[in-house]
Amino acid sequence: MLEKLAQTSDFIKEKLEGRKPSIGIILGSGLGVFADELNNKIEIPYDEIPNFHKPTVVGHKGRLVIGDIDGVELAVFQGRFHRYEGHPFEDVVLPVRVLSQIGVETVVLTNASGGINSQYKPGDLVYISDHINLTGDNPLIGPNPEELGVRFPDLSEAYDQGLSKHLIESAKELDFDLHPGVYAGVLGPSYETPAEIRMLKIIGADMVGMSTVPESIAANHAGLKVCGISCITNYAAGISQEKLSHDDVKHVANMAMEKFTKLLKLAVVKIGKK
Ligand code: HPA
Repeated sequence: MLEKLAQTSDFIKEKLEGRKPSIGIILGSGLGVFADELNNKIEIPYDEIPNFHKPTVVGHKGRLVIGDIDGVELAVFQGRFHRYEGHPFEDVVLPVRVLSQIGVETVVLTNASGGINSQYKPGDLVYISDHINLTGDNPLIGPNPEELGVRFPDLSEAYDQGLSKHLIESAKELDFDLHPGVYAGVLGPSYETPAEIRMLKIIGADMVGMSTVPESIAANHAGLKVCGISCITNYAAGISQEKLSHDDVKHVANMAMEKFTKLLKLAVVKIGKK
């Protein structure tokens, strides 16, 4: 695993041409347009990056874009890997581990999710205040190379409150309220049953999705500061009578794209210039 990580990181370091991104971003389903907003872009397709896979999910582009917003240097993964695509967690978390290896200190995880909290409606943006790992797995299982992080990492502030404040303030400047939410991470790829959603509500989840949790665990393990933005793309199963489809998820993410892009642009400048 260390060899793979070194191979991927060395390849990307060479492509950086001396640039030093300070913030890494992983863009979720249908939220890829943000990467087009960067200045002075270097684009690296995933099929050129050693040990990376081609995303199989429609709505995930599959390239790493290096660029800046207002002088804040970013490394943006346009598309991510999921366990449900058949990739082991080790590969799912490779992008965040690479970020740590190339000197990035902060990561913004973004995703599309189903809303469980009755206050949320499709199109809302929520900041991730905490997560519940329901994947039945953990990316840190196995030998723990000490150079990557400690054996038993603390997750009591898995989503950094200082970073989240920047998200909240950025939303305020854009005239909307960004509410907190606890993200339940499941494996997918089937959507949940209404009974599962009732259970998730009881255990304290506000939204549910099939990504982010392994990345957040590996990023915290690596000592990166993490924050997250979730785009509520649908009412979770049984919250409304609507059936769930990936087409609807993409459609709603597209509708929220402008707001999402504005929020993220403002927030990265605040975070990068703090
Ligand atoms: N469930 C799980 N993952 C999701 C959902 C959902 O309702 N919407 C978007 N990603």
